[in-house]
Amino acid sequence: MKINTAQFVISNTDITKCPEANMPEYAFIGRSNVGKSSLINMLTNRKSLAKISGKPGKTQLINHFLINDDWYLVDLPGYGFAKTGKTQRLKWEKFINEYLTKRENLLNVFVLIDSRHEPQRIDLNFMGWLGENGIPFSIVFTKLDKLRPSQKGSFYPQYKREMLKIWEEMPPHFVTSSADGTGKDELLEYIEAINADYKA
Ligand code: GTP
Ligand code: MG
Repeated sequence: MKINTAQFVISNTDITKCPEANMPEYAFIGRSNVGKSSLINMLTNRKSLAKISGKPGKTQLINHFLINDDWYLVDLPGYGFAKTGKTQRLKWEKFINEYLTKRENLLNVFVLIDSRHEPQRIDLNFMGWLGENGIPFSIVFTKLDKLRPSQKGSFYPQYKREMLKIWEEMPPHFVTSSADGTGKDELLEYIEAINADYKA
């Protein structure tokens, strides 16, 4: 799929203020600093459509971007940022849970996982929660360019082994780098196929 237009629409923490739920929507979520905003910029060929930062906790709101006047990409704040206080964390959980469980046009959640790290409990638990709530998701491994050559062949089998302790099969997964564009075509094709299904 070719991206012709990508425009910021609105930011908020309130599902009732999100754009009308009349087009396919895809959300990006994962630990703080995993590369959600960078991936959105990579997919849309834009340097700073979504705000990026070296410091975790940059994205704080539900951000809607309209793509090709036809579907939405949503950038969400990350979880697991150590410096977040309890009050802030509970607030996050409330509006994110509400968004993920109630947004009718949300067709798939992309859960981003840093390919350099061992499987983390917080991500496994979050995917478990998505499963319990019947929310379709796929895994996007990020920052592949940062892996040592020796890690490139081993991180996925290791992750899969951990997932299969919980799940009967692996969800769809993608391997990406926002630095060099790895995985872009595969992700856009996947979205295009779901969009086509939605319209059929
Ligand atoms: P929060 O909004 O804070 O939750 O973070 P985020 O998940 O949106 O991460 P963001 O896209 O802001 O990226 C965090 C840092 O990782 C930035 O310094 C990015 O430049 C860097 N980064 C993201 N993706 C990649 C990648 O694929 N390769 C490399 N080398 N760096 C990346
Ligand atoms: Mg962000």
